[in-house]
Amino acid sequence: MSDWVDAKVYEIKNWTDILFSLRVEAPICSFVAGQFAKIALNFNGKRIQRAYSYVNAPNDKILEFYLTMVSGGKLSPYLRSLQPGKKLLITKKASGFFVLSSIPQCETLWMISTGTAIGPYLSILQYGKGLERFQNIILVHAVRYFADLSFTNLINSLQKKYNGKLQVKTIVSREKIFGSLHGRIPDLISNGELEKSIGLNINCKNSHVMLCGNPAMVYETKNLLKDTRGMELNLKEKCGHITSENYW
Ligand SMILES: Cc1cc2nc3c(=O)[nH]c(=O)nc-3n(C[C@H](O)[C@H](O)[C@H](O)COP(=O)(O)OP(=O)(O)OC[C@H]3O[C@@H](n4cnc5c(N)ncnc54)[C@H](O)[C@@H]3O)c2cc1C
Ligand SMILES: NC(=O)c1ccc[n+]([C@@H]2O[C@H](COP(=O)([O-])OP(=O)(O)OC[C@H]3O[C@@H](n4cnc5c(N)ncnc54)[C@H](OP(=O)(O)O)[C@@H]3O)[C@@H](O)[C@H]2O)c1
Repeated sequence: MSDWVDAKVYEIKNWTDILFSLRVEAPICSFVAGQFAKIALNFNGKRIQRAYSYVNAPNDKILEFYLTMVSGGKLSPYLRSLQPGKKLLITKKASGFFVLSSIPQCETLWMISTGTAIGPYLSILQYGKGLERFQNIILVHAVRYFADLSFTNLINSLQKKYNGKLQVKTIVSREKIFGSLHGRIPDLISNGELEKSIGLNINCKNSHVMLCGNPAMVYETKNLLKDTRGMELNLKEKCGHITSENYW
């Protein structure tokens, strides 16, 4: 059973009509970058709870979550309409194993995401600790439209901070944008465009691939990497090359 604590909304930052950051203050226990909390609201005495990944680094005072407002969703539309000062519930302890300590030693760490699933990578990158052991870090963010590429200022500042070690590749699937790849993650791995744009290969000798977000993307990319690159799932009982988290 989770322990819940009160959280207070600090800010709702709308990135688009659908995408927003929920920023809150709450007396949580410390978490590990890459983990998620459960957030809940009470509706007529019934608690509706959902999982959301931390975007902020564990040492930040304001807690940030990056959300899509799912049309007709039971919780996300209500979270978006909260005003500063409003109360909500959050789990005191974070959950999840999508964290750097689960990743075996390798040269190149691929952090691949769709939509709001860029969140856990931003937490890991903002915190920074534990990334020293990788020579290259590749952050891939796939969205439908250019306008869905939130956090560009933060990402630019992270690229400066990592001084060449962090490469970022955006993918926009529903319009052609200069500087972004066009299409879907599995297709862009299959046809070699993603790796060509970065100048590094994904292989089981020196790479580890983290996949987060749309379950269909995670499923298709895992299968592709298993079938064509000989990569294996990274499990608690057996180290591999692919670590994943599904958002639904
Ligand atoms: C480990 C974990 C971490 C998560 N972290 C985040 C996060 O950081 N940000 C975030 O926005 N969501 C995140 N989610 C999804 C989130 O928990 C909710 O499922 C989402 O907010 C929808 O809740 P809802 O009550 O509004 O919709 P519901 O009434 O529960 O409707 C759910 C339906 O909406 C669709 N759906 C659910 N989530 C999404 C999504 N993100 N994008 C598109 N369609 C979706 C699915 O078809 C699902 O069946 C995470 C989920 C998991 C399991
Ligand atoms: N983003 C928007 O502007 C927008 C607008 C209206 C509603 N919404 C709602 O917001 C929610 C989340 O949308 P989202 O755009 O953040 O997430 P999403 O649907 O997961 O799309 C994010 C990226 O993942 C890609 N993708 C989808 N299925 C894939 C698969 N099987 N393999 C590989 N890649 C795949 C999408 O490509 P494709 O474009 O090819 O699908 C897109 O590039 C949804 O409920 C959606 O209905 C979003």
